Amino acid sequence: MSIAHGIRTLGVLGAGQMGLGIAYVSALHARVPVMLYDRSASQVQNGLKFMDKLLAKDVSKGKITQEQATAARERVSTIDVDKGVSGMRDVDMVIEAVSENLQVKQTLFRNLAAELPPTAILASNTSSISITKIAAATVPEGKNAADEDAKRSAGRVVGLHFFNPVPVMKLVELIAAIQTSQETVDRAKAFAVACGKEVTTSKDVPGFVGNALLMPFINEAIMCLEKGVATREDIDKTLKLGMNHPMGPLQLGEHCLAMTIGLDTCLAIQKTLYVGTGDSKYRPSVLLERMVDAGWYGKKSGKGFYEYPQ
Ligand code: 3HC
Repeated sequence: MSIAHGIRTLGVLGAGQMGLGIAYVSALHARVPVMLYDRSASQVQNGLKFMDKLLAKDVSKGKITQEQATAARERVSTIDVDKGVSGMRDVDMVIEAVSENLQVKQTLFRNLAAELPPTAILASNTSSISITKIAAATVPEGKNAADEDAKRSAGRVVGLHFFNPVPVMKLVELIAAIQTSQETVDRAKAFAVACGKEVTTSKDVPGFVGNALLMPFINEAIMCLEKGVATREDIDKTLKLGMNHPMGPLQLGEHCLAMTIGLDTCLAIQKTLYVGTGDSKYRPSVLLERMVDAGWYGKKSGKGFYEYPQ
């Protein structure tokens, strides 16, 4: 028997590439009204323009009808910048996709837990921050952890890790913290399925499954380049033509993860794996560190291993 997600309205926090993609699949496939919030009004406007473009492209390719596109777009509304999370008071679920900063996320989740109904699910799209730490921040200070309110508060926090580009990639990785309730897991999973995604589940370990495998792979490719084993083109070509990967690892780190993410994100996640496990096999490549020191993040800064003129 399929579980009902019970989401009548969704809040999406962050209108960057990931947040926008999540709003898109939620409005189009799960067909729920979406309230989009970002502290930058221009980010929201740019995001909505991008969504219009995507919908128009899907219509022109015959993937969806004009009626479906119009209905999806009408489901997306925005929240005034000065309202903040209080504008999401009535949603049944929030998916947070803001910058990867533990303190920022903890403050947001603390505020969300205080504002939203106790049944609302609080999900994070984090790619490597501990869901357990985010969930712990929702418990009011001084509360006994065995208290029913404390358990309920942290129990509704879950990781829903979408992949970039969200409209294209079929996977959502669901991360259950040690506090996450089974009901939250079941409802969050049902919602991701309604968005047209396949769902895998992971424990809350550094990098979960996706990035614990992907980032060392990219890091290893950079080490290969650093040691002069092969050229950047040949490293990428080996994986593209030899293993049928859609992109080579160097390209993937700096190009596909473009605009909001890039080599700086790869380094941050790699460091999370290194520090979180204490295992030397995760040591970031010195070249990766230098690229980030230089501001050579890839597509988003115009230069990485390759160059991206305007
Ligand atoms: N948003 C929405 N749709 C996009 C898009 C974007 N940013 N970029 C590309 N697309 C769509 C295109 O519109 C096109 O759709 P169509 O089939 O309807 O025309 C489709 O994707 C294919 O695009 P292209 O023909 O332009 O190019 P490719 O065939 O080379 O595909 C790609 C582009 C889908 C990005 C492909 O190269 C790919 O799959 N690359 C690997 C992506 C990947 O590994 N992502 C995971 C990254 S890890 C991650 O996200 C985790 C995080 O925590 C770091």
